[in-house]
Amino acid sequence: MKVTVFGIGYVGLVQAAVLAEVGHNVVCVDVDQQKVDNLKQGIIPIYEPGLEPLVKENYDQGRLTFTTDAKQGIEHGKIQFIAVGTPPDEDGSADLQYVLKVAETIATHMNDEKIIVNKSTVPVGTADKVKAKVSEVLDNRDIGPAFHVASNPEFLKEGAAVNDCMKPDRIVVGTNSDQVTDIMRELYAPFNRNHDRMIFMDIRSAELTKYAANCMLATKISFMNEIAMLADKLGADVEHVRQGIGSDPRIGYHFIYPGCGYGGSCFPKDVQALKRTAEEIDFEPLMLQAVEKRNAKQKEVLFEKISCHYKGDLEGKTFALWGLAFKPNTDDMRDAPSRVLMESLWEAGAKVQAYDPEAMEEAQRIYGVRDDLMLFGTRQAALKGADALVICTEWKQFWAPDFELMADLLNEPVIFDGRNLFEPGLLQRKGFEYTGIGR
Ligand code: UDX
Repeated sequence: MKVTVFGIGYVGLVQAAVLAEVGHNVVCVDVDQQKVDNLKQGIIPIYEPGLEPLVKENYDQGRLTFTTDAKQGIEHGKIQFIAVGTPPDEDGSADLQYVLKVAETIATHMNDEKIIVNKSTVPVGTADKVKAKVSEVLDNRDIGPAFHVASNPEFLKEGAAVNDCMKPDRIVVGTNSDQVTDIMRELYAPFNRNHDRMIFMDIRSAELTKYAANCMLATKISFMNEIAMLADKLGADVEHVRQGIGSDPRIGYHFIYPGCGYGGSCFPKDVQALKRTAEEIDFEPLMLQAVEKRNAKQKEVLFEKISCHYKGDLEGKTFALWGLAFKPNTDDMRDAPSRVLMESLWEAGAKVQAYDPEAMEEAQRIYGVRDDLMLFGTRQAALKGADALVICTEWKQFWAPDFELMADLLNEPVIFDGRNLFEPGLLQRKGFEYTGIGR
């Protein structure tokens, strides 16, 4: 099938590559000429395992092309995906200007029937706005081809995006048209084998499903973070509690890992946006407010523990920091807990010696060159001469370090672990002063 994808960001690029991989013919349109030129040379704008070979191979075979020429993209696909960003507005609601701009562009150049599919995470009611925009533009033109607007939210996780797209656990489609249902079934048939993963519903429900999924996951994490804080105060170990409750299949083991807060491009933004949506209709979203508040507090916990350890005197101290990315297997630092920590440490007059397997360029881009941030090429190098180690991201390579070497390299054997990687008793026996979250 011929497909066009507007927006070569995380969602658009991964979805386009995966659709091309199963044989569809995909044209990607973006306004960023540099990005398009780079992609043609196999330079991928993001770090995502498995994505680079997938993009290169499908580009070489001609099933995946990149262009800034919107007209060409619109002529190409019967299905037109909108996968552009919906960044938070000043008030936290999702900014729809890019989505509506694409809708307008499609309407300006389309000459035959199109199915316009929203893949971006958009507030409930956006499909109606897209429909209105397209109708408005078509009304001003002499011809009026038929069009449909559908919602097909994306549930991929950064770091596992290719796999999530290749083997989705569900494909949600919001549409009220039988024709669109048939076409979407055909498009996703290669991903819908063994058992039916396609869930069709009305458009508003599909739009809300995306927010409900992310907000539910964020809720699980915030709830567990709250239990961790209680465990700290009550002298319990949240890791035992986690196992104790996770064994109940109604609760499950997923997404109940306490830590230094959730970050990334989705949870913070989506919780905020759904909160805004609720407020706009005069509904007080009590749960969402609490989830957000807990997470903001959670991002301060590591600093509070560090500050408490040094009795508030952090001036001139140096901290090794393992993990800058908001989670492993990505270089993404959007809303990362490491940022809140570093900024607090700097404010208190401390220095940071950081190491991250992928996110160091990103840290450089965000913070530039500064005296109180040193980036090191290995995790050991970051420890040398530091007063303590702080862990913000649970990269696999941090899980089994050489503790003796660590103790040698650090000024003092002190660890603040924002991801509960180690067993406190074991670390104590090895001579470390170890502080986790809720243990
Ligand atoms: C999330 C959703 O998982 C995905 O379905 C959606 O499409 C986009 O948002 P992503 O942001 O890539 O994906 O990362 P995810 O793995 O969900 O982690 C988000 C944050 O939660 C990370 O900061 C992670 O460290 C934190 N987290 C996750 C916890 O603190 N505890 C957990 O138990 C799980």
